Amino acid sequence: MDPAFIDRLSAQAESLDQAGLYKRERGIASGQGAAVRLADGREVLNLCANNYLGLANHPLLREAAHRAIDRYGYGVASVRFICGTQTIHRELEQRLAAFLGTEDALLYSSCFDANGGLFETVTDEQDVIISDALNHASIIDGIRLSRARRLRYANRDLASLEDCLRQARDARTRLVVTDGVFSMDGTIAPLAGICELAERYRAVVVVDDSHATGFLGATGRGSHEHCGVMGQVDLLTGTLGKALGGASGGYVAGPRAVIDWLRQRSRPYLFSNSIPPVVAATTLRVLDLLDSMPELRERLWANTRWFRQEMAALGFQLVAGEHPIVPIMLGEATLAGRLAERMLELGTYVVGFAYPVVPQGAARIRTQMSAAHERAQLQTAVASFAQAGRELGLIK
Ligand SMILES: Cc1ncc(COP(=O)(O)O)c(C=O)c1O
Repeated sequence: MDPAFIDRLSAQAESLDQAGLYKRERGIASGQGAAVRLADGREVLNLCANNYLGLANHPLLREAAHRAIDRYGYGVASVRFICGTQTIHRELEQRLAAFLGTEDALLYSSCFDANGGLFETVTDEQDVIISDALNHASIIDGIRLSRARRLRYANRDLASLEDCLRQARDARTRLVVTDGVFSMDGTIAPLAGICELAERYRAVVVVDDSHATGFLGATGRGSHEHCGVMGQVDLLTGTLGKALGGASGGYVAGPRAVIDWLRQRSRPYLFSNSIPPVVAATTLRVLDLLDSMPELRERLWANTRWFRQEMAALGFQLVAGEHPIVPIMLGEATLAGRLAERMLELGTYVVGFAYPVVPQGAARIRTQMSAAHERAQLQTAVASFAQAGRELGLIK
């Protein structure tokens, strides 16, 4: 071992810590839910999970998961194309495709892998990928793996996108890729405008709907349903790790020819284990519940409207919008950290986000609403924000 290697990384971590950017993970000793028990025994309200529909520890899913383990076992010890395809893996792909309104779908170990395995497999140097500036890290990394030319347009800016499309006129294929919902802001991509431009410039539209599938749109199909463009978004990527039960797993959904090609050549699909059968089977149960329990979505949206209204009335600076991601803007990383610490002392678990996850000087606390939150719990959280915000001089 070269000691200089260890010294360099230790010094880098130390300077992160001095800048208030060092992340410390907090142990949770209970299941995921509206409230959680921390490793030190404290029970706290939880406002930072992607558990939008409150399904992560729902009794119906626990029951489905137990049944699935009894029937299909724990793991498959194989990639899909060798002996890792159980009937439920294929059934889930077909059900996801039907739910999203596409011809087919392909499962990956995560949405990070789905985005990592999509772009290099369907493009080469003759193509151009046009990406929103605030797209998720997994899209950025996935595009880096491709040999296609890359162009970036300003966040949600249709004029900037059109400029890129003009520059890419000579390309064989133009791919426009955007998050459906931007995870640090909770803002929704202007998909109607994007699809209209894509039609005009003959581009393929790819949407990562990780923060939308299951609850955005009248029936929870996602941002394409919300924006009235189901059938016009060509490819969707998404996660099983958020609203759809919160375990892990991802997918690409789209035209059969694309999915077939990914199944042949996409590296994170070919060279990585199948998702555990318990996750496949339980996600099938989630898809049933999305149709049979619309009250989960209704509660999520009611909680979101109430919380946004109360926090704005207190004088906090929120990113405007309607999504259950409700960012409280603070600017300095250290301030976000101090507010999160004080909130925890007062009994509510929230997390500060700072550079490089968000731009320099745009540190924030990202709160996330859930259908699992009772109104009384949100009232407690808002009262704590009021107290902590006054103590830190953030509000009057
Ligand atoms: C927009 C977006 N895409 C992809 C991912 C990655 O999803 P997964 O956890 O399934 O890898 C996330 C999760 O943070 C996300 O927010």
